[in-house]
Amino acid sequence: MQADAPSDSALWPNAGAYQFAAQNVSQECSDVLLEQLTGCLPEKLRGVLYRNGPGRSECFGLPYGHPFDGDGMVLRFEFSRDGVRYSNRFVRTREFDEEEQAGRPLYRSFGTNLPGGLLRNFAKLRFKNAANTSVLRFRDSLLALWEGGLPHALDPRTLETLRREDFDGSLQNEHSALDRFLNPELPFSAHPKVCSRTGDIFNFGMALGATPRLYLYRLQTDGHFKKQSMPLQAMSFVHDFVLTDNYLVFIFPSVSFDIPRTLAGLSTPVDSIMTQDRPGELWVIDRHSFSLVRQLQVPSGFFFHFSNGYEAGEDIYLEGCLMPRFPQAADTRNLLEGGTDPFPKALLTRYRVTPSQVEVQDLAPIPAELPTIDERYANQEHGVTFFISNALENPTPFMNRIMRREMNGQVVEREFGSDIVGEPVFVPDSETAAEGSGWLLVMTHSFQRRRAELHVLSADSLESLTSFALPHTVPPGFHGFFEPFITPSSSQTAVS
Ligand SMILES: [Fe+2]
Repeated sequence: MQADAPSDSALWPNAGAYQFAAQNVSQECSDVLLEQLTGCLPEKLRGVLYRNGPGRSECFGLPYGHPFDGDGMVLRFEFSRDGVRYSNRFVRTREFDEEEQAGRPLYRSFGTNLPGGLLRNFAKLRFKNAANTSVLRFRDSLLALWEGGLPHALDPRTLETLRREDFDGSLQNEHSALDRFLNPELPFSAHPKVCSRTGDIFNFGMALGATPRLYLYRLQTDGHFKKQSMPLQAMSFVHDFVLTDNYLVFIFPSVSFDIPRTLAGLSTPVDSIMTQDRPGELWVIDRHSFSLVRQLQVPSGFFFHFSNGYEAGEDIYLEGCLMPRFPQAADTRNLLEGGTDPFPKALLTRYRVTPSQVEVQDLAPIPAELPTIDERYANQEHGVTFFISNALENPTPFMNRIMRREMNGQVVEREFGSDIVGEPVFVPDSETAAEGSGWLLVMTHSFQRRRAELHVLSADSLESLTSFALPHTVPPGFHGFFEPFITPSSSQTAVS
């Protein structure tokens, strides 16, 4: 077990380290054998790690106004006897290709308007699909996902972009003329859930229209696509949800957009976000009928990510990373400009949802983001959660620790000094391994060494087993999964 060494704020990652890591990637590699820095690759660790994240921080000289805007770049790490082979490709979205041809930015993004003020942004309703948030195996393709638009299907071997995926037309908007004008295609968010029992994929999207709507999707292994929408009182910001054996659980935080200002081009979406210190709403939806079965108030706050959810009798438990409020555009700008204003800090939190109320259970004051579990325990009471973290007294969201927390409160941590760490991807070391026993695959970026690295940690002790250097600077990105070299039991699910 790693000792919890006292943190030295001078060694924490800072805005400069982040900006360096986030610089534009100019090179696309194909099957490059990575330089092994330390240790030995475990013999049983064989398969492919896919990851997605922004590969650019500016577009033809226009700096992106938010870290969520960078053009999606998918990474592929193949673990074999020879070592680790690495490839990376930008997702060739329609907007990416058009901007490449034009040699200038043509589209607005979540936190970026075009230069030129109102004249260039007025009523520009088509935003750039960043395709930068996560990846999902779907049949013989790999989907690059972004919560505001269609997925993009890639060749899982070459990472070549094959098509914009609308699931045989299922994501074409069929609502009113106004709905179709605002969103001809429906968004397919970046945190789909794969049912470990059936292989069905559940997901959602939120879209404006005559009435803002929550769209629910179930993509069955036989190819059937079920879609249903529910009207919302107002457009909110929902990034993730929870799947249990019988339910889909959504939390609508007290976050709203100034839609007229955004559509008029007077503001970017993120700049128009307003948060209120008032309760949010939790919806429990029957996952078979897509009907709303429970609607409860939740305390003010914001979850980007959940690690898991499960049922216990009439109760539902949710575990995730709860921020006191959504980080507004000004928070992010201050942070990236090296400001010292405290950034909203997410803490690992559990909700117990009873038929009549939501009880908050603080698991410990542990800063937490990008949580994950041993997926074999998805929708069940899990005993181990992995996540990234930093010192409680660190006011920034730049994470430099990997954590393993057990339900009994025992915590193991591994600190990476001034290096920025990315999401840990858990891989069990056998089908019968104890929960949480195996490896964690973690990307880091070291400003000191000016390079991106891939680390394989023991998932039990978090000790480093081996590490590799990437051939160029790549930020740790957002989300990924590992696909072992075995025939998947389902044609749709690939998460090990
Ligand atoms: Fe996410």
